[in-house]
Amino acid sequence: MPLVPMKQILDEAIKGNYGVGAFNVNNMEQIQGIMRAAKETNSPVIVQASRGALKYTNMYYIKHLVAAAVEDNPEIPIALHLDHGNSLETCKLAIGLGFTSVMIDGSLKEDSKTPTTFDENVEVTVEVVRYAHGFGVTVEGELGTLGGIEDGVGSGKVKLTDPDEAARFIQLTGLDALALAIGTSHGAYKFKEQPKLAMDIISEVRSRVPATPLVMHGSSSVPPELIDIVNNYGGKLEHTMGVPMSSIQQAIKLGVKKINVDTDGRLAITGAIRKFFAENPSEFDPRTYFGAARQAVYEVVKGKMTDFGSAGRAGDYRPISLEEARRFYINF
Ligand code: G3H
Ligand code: 13P
Ligand code: ZN
Repeated sequence: MPLVPMKQILDEAIKGNYGVGAFNVNNMEQIQGIMRAAKETNSPVIVQASRGALKYTNMYYIKHLVAAAVEDNPEIPIALHLDHGNSLETCKLAIGLGFTSVMIDGSLKEDSKTPTTFDENVEVTVEVVRYAHGFGVTVEGELGTLGGIEDGVGSGKVKLTDPDEAARFIQLTGLDALALAIGTSHGAYKFKEQPKLAMDIISEVRSRVPATPLVMHGSSSVPPELIDIVNNYGGKLEHTMGVPMSSIQQAIKLGVKKINVDTDGRLAITGAIRKFFAENPSEFDPRTYFGAARQAVYEVVKGKMTDFGSAGRAGDYRPISLEEARRFYINF
């Protein structure tokens, strides 16, 4: 089957009340590890590429690696999503490459650092929605800025999502999925102790806009086992905690349907390669250590597909094409 619009994958997840992992990819081994996990668990999957990933792969390599994943896994619904698009231009580029979903992160200016006003966010998101829906492409937006609740409140850096604004934002923009700021942050160093997440924001938004799938960024669990592997084989990562799986499962029950994971894959790869070289110092065939990295990604992602509840759901529906999605938006 060709790439599927992300909207369909998330709408089905709402119907079945499960979450779908959106896994960041930058190379063949990550894609292969993720796809093996999807195939074995029979799970739909969202493969996402950041602007950094587009640059690293010179765009065409990511496009064709994902095309290979589609050809190799015809029974799995796969969406290709742009992670943290910063402008209409970047979204146009991704849509031109064949992405079936884009994120416009209008919570920040084009520099991806400076927070925007609500009106500025609406303006850029509407532009992207108009353009993307003309191709049947799904749009994810973001309201609020990421960061730990305790680190950020009052600092001016973190702004948790306001549920009333969220409902207004969805109505004004017509977007398909909304990323909420509930206290998570990107990267390995999220929390020093058990996190406090603003779960009530999810239920509050859900009660106002029940049909819109919600998205949780910064959802890596940073498992201590992965940190230990890195550190036991020469790494120097500090004590840290991620988002516990139990919190993610609670968020899914409350309305989150897309769960963004990048860091756990990075940790798995780094640990596997460090371990491999420590145990096989004379090995120099890249297939051996990249193979170990691919296996580590597969194991991490397989566990998440099971824990998020997407395992076993790949065959639940007939995937629609971008053309069908385009007609849906026109008639809407
Ligand atoms: O949200 C950011 C993702 O983890 C992607 O990271 O921009 O380094 O590729 P990146
Ligand atoms: P993590 O850094 O927690 O994996 O989050 C990734 C993410 O949100 C990508 O958009
Ligand atoms: Zn993110």
